[in-house]
Amino acid sequence: MKKILITGGAGYIGSHTAVSLLEAGFEPIIVDNFSNSNKSVLKGLKAILGRDIACYEGDCNERGLMELIFAENQFSGVIHFAAFKAVGESTQFPLKYYANNIDSLLILLETMAKFGVKDLVFSSSCTVYGQPDELPVSESTPRKEAESPYGNSKKICEDILRDYINSGVDSRIISLRYFNPVGAHPSGEIGELPLGIPNNLVPFITQSAAGIRQQLTVFGDDYNTPDGSCVRDYIHVMDLADAHVKALEFLFRQNLNFYDIFNVGTGKGNTVLEVIKTFEKVSKKALNYKIGPRRPGDIEKVWANTHKINSELGWMAKYSLEDSLRDSWNWQQKLGLRE
Ligand code: UD1
Repeated sequence: MKKILITGGAGYIGSHTAVSLLEAGFEPIIVDNFSNSNKSVLKGLKAILGRDIACYEGDCNERGLMELIFAENQFSGVIHFAAFKAVGESTQFPLKYYANNIDSLLILLETMAKFGVKDLVFSSSCTVYGQPDELPVSESTPRKEAESPYGNSKKICEDILRDYINSGVDSRIISLRYFNPVGAHPSGEIGELPLGIPNNLVPFITQSAAGIRQQLTVFGDDYNTPDGSCVRDYIHVMDLADAHVKALEFLFRQNLNFYDIFNVGTGKGNTVLEVIKTFEKVSKKALNYKIGPRRPGDIEKVWANTHKINSELGWMAKYSLEDSLRDSWNWQQKLGLRE
């Protein structure tokens, strides 16, 4: 079995990708420092897969650790998720974000080169588009000035990868620009585990429905959208996980010295109020919510043009918004039973 290193593999997207990789016949190996994840994820993976997934505990910024991991395993490829991702925190601690998100990529690229590992899938974000001038947004749409150090760190990492390939190296790299990941594994054994008060919409919704949060605030209803609330492209995390497998398989078929970028979304936009209504329908629970002021830095509307990933990687989102919210709610309920 081809071994694939998943940095940040105990995190939300990484853990679901571990499931998809194993099911596609790869051997996922995780490195994670558990700074924003929990070891219970490994138990969830075992419950789904019926076996343990190898996991190294440690920081991807430690070159010695990374070299040890690469020396102990002959990897066929790497998926790099490990990064800090809280937008608000990044504006408070920009150096922490730049150091962590950029250094870990540089160390990873150098370690891959040292050990002859050629293939990398990098976790980028639709945040690099800002508020695009055209919708749906395609990969060739120019990126905008980043709204936060977090967003800028993703933009800089993309540029590093492009420049690295332009230097003529024998590597193959894809950046995946994720839209808004939601949902959980349908088993409810793994899902998103936000620390503290969630910033993201769907964890806040499920925690409100579970009675952990009192009231949900809709950040603005005066945008230029069908019902005034913001529009996003919500993609089921299992679809997103599958996109990583497709990206890796695609890379293996390319000539060396390759770099490309793909949007990963459903191609459909939904407003915040539509998400709330859909959640109420699938959970059969009324949400306690109010309309509040706009959140500073929010984008009015963004959704993906998915033509490139559909045609070149043969990947398409399979889950609907209803499926996503049902799985998020199932996961939240199972979490409640665990505590
Ligand atoms: C956010 C980040 C983005 C990051 C992504 C990762 C910001 C500004 N952007 O995207 O860089 O890549 O998470 O998943 O933080 N909303 C409410 N009430 C809430 C929470 C959210 O109305 O309590 C609304 C927001 O205004 C937004 C939508 O729900 O319109 C989605 O918000 P969120 O889940 O935070 O994602 P993004 O802002 O799209």
